[in-house]
Amino acid sequence: MIQFPHTFLWGAATSAHQVEGNNKFNDWWEWEQHGGGKATSGQACRSYDLYSQDFYLAKELHHNAHRISVEWSRIEPAEGEFSQEAIEHYKKVVESLKERGLEPIVTLHHFTNPLWLAKKGGWLNKKTPEYFARFSAKIVDCLADKVHYWVTINEPMVYVYHSYILGAWPPELKSISKAGQVTDNLVAGHVVAYRKIHEIYKNRQLSSPMVSIAKNVQAFVACRPTLLNKFGVYIRNKYYNLDFLERIRRRKAIDYIGINYYSRSLVDISGFSYDELFVGGCKHNHSALPKNTLGWDIYPQGLYDILMMYKKYNLPQLILENGICTLDDNQRWDFIRDHLVKLSQAMRDGARVLGYIHWSLIDNFEWDKGFAPCFGLIEMDYNTYKRTVRESARKLAQVCLTGILE
Ligand code: FCB
Repeated sequence: MIQFPHTFLWGAATSAHQVEGNNKFNDWWEWEQHGGGKATSGQACRSYDLYSQDFYLAKELHHNAHRISVEWSRIEPAEGEFSQEAIEHYKKVVESLKERGLEPIVTLHHFTNPLWLAKKGGWLNKKTPEYFARFSAKIVDCLADKVHYWVTINEPMVYVYHSYILGAWPPELKSISKAGQVTDNLVAGHVVAYRKIHEIYKNRQLSSPMVSIAKNVQAFVACRPTLLNKFGVYIRNKYYNLDFLERIRRRKAIDYIGINYYSRSLVDISGFSYDELFVGGCKHNHSALPKNTLGWDIYPQGLYDILMMYKKYNLPQLILENGICTLDDNQRWDFIRDHLVKLSQAMRDGARVLGYIHWSLIDNFEWDKGFAPCFGLIEMDYNTYKRTVRESARKLAQVCLTGILE
């Protein structure tokens, strides 16, 4: 039997573009209309209108926290023009969480950019950190008295990887130097937004907020223990898992470590080219593990290893995403249970973990992969928008209620 602390945050996450529907003024929408990805997001889960149904179910499942993102392109649909209507909407959304006793965790940037910004070069533009800070200040100012946990940028290195290294997401650029520039601007964007948020709380004499990024972390593993593979693991771990965090730490702009963990990544390299070192994975399926429907290895040990790796930073850690796309709900529960076991082992071994936020509350639009991957604790019928709670969600609900994992 495992006992989690009484103060533990239990909940699930979504992001605006993946669930709201009709986010017509961002770069993803535009890209989808021109054939990008497997499907158009369209109405998604209609959560822009149906959010209270989602939160009602989260509460029924004994969650006490919930992670959402606000959509920049709704709040600032044209450069410098802010929509009071959208701001009021998010105020209502956050109030609806609070009324139900769900601690809001709010993300400011979850992959999408307003179209006007994309047209100015997006995160390649040196001014984007300032634009981002201006938008952040606007919405934070409105929500400050209700929100304690902020995530400035979701998975900055995943964004860099897909959009500027692989070139698979908008704006589909594949360039090492551009990836570097974008990373620099994301660091700068986070830092200015971090400072702005703290300044707002200070000026309004509100207790100091907890601000971080959601760091996607891969468990890099050498599939054969060659020297070259070990070097590959070292270099990828440093580049994808550590550098961004260390840069914002050096700027004193992080209050906790937000962690998104899904899978391991096998490293099997045969040279020192950029692609060998930073792109591709192992092509041979060495030491095969069960996988999710997207083919990602299920590797709970990685969560333990990561929490222990970050322990040295002496910051509280918060799981902001962890989950599985599967059509087999028993597999979903096994995944959750096995990850919670590893999480508790890391806590026993000294990792300070504030909570576990599952990805996702509901099935949703999985970016370029469309609607097929089902990550939800709750099943979505995309014809009727009916939400149906899965059995795995009920099992997790017992843990949320009692703090005990049998
Ligand atoms: C993460 C994203 C999230 C979702 C999950 C499956 O990388 O942050 O939006 O797509 O993967």
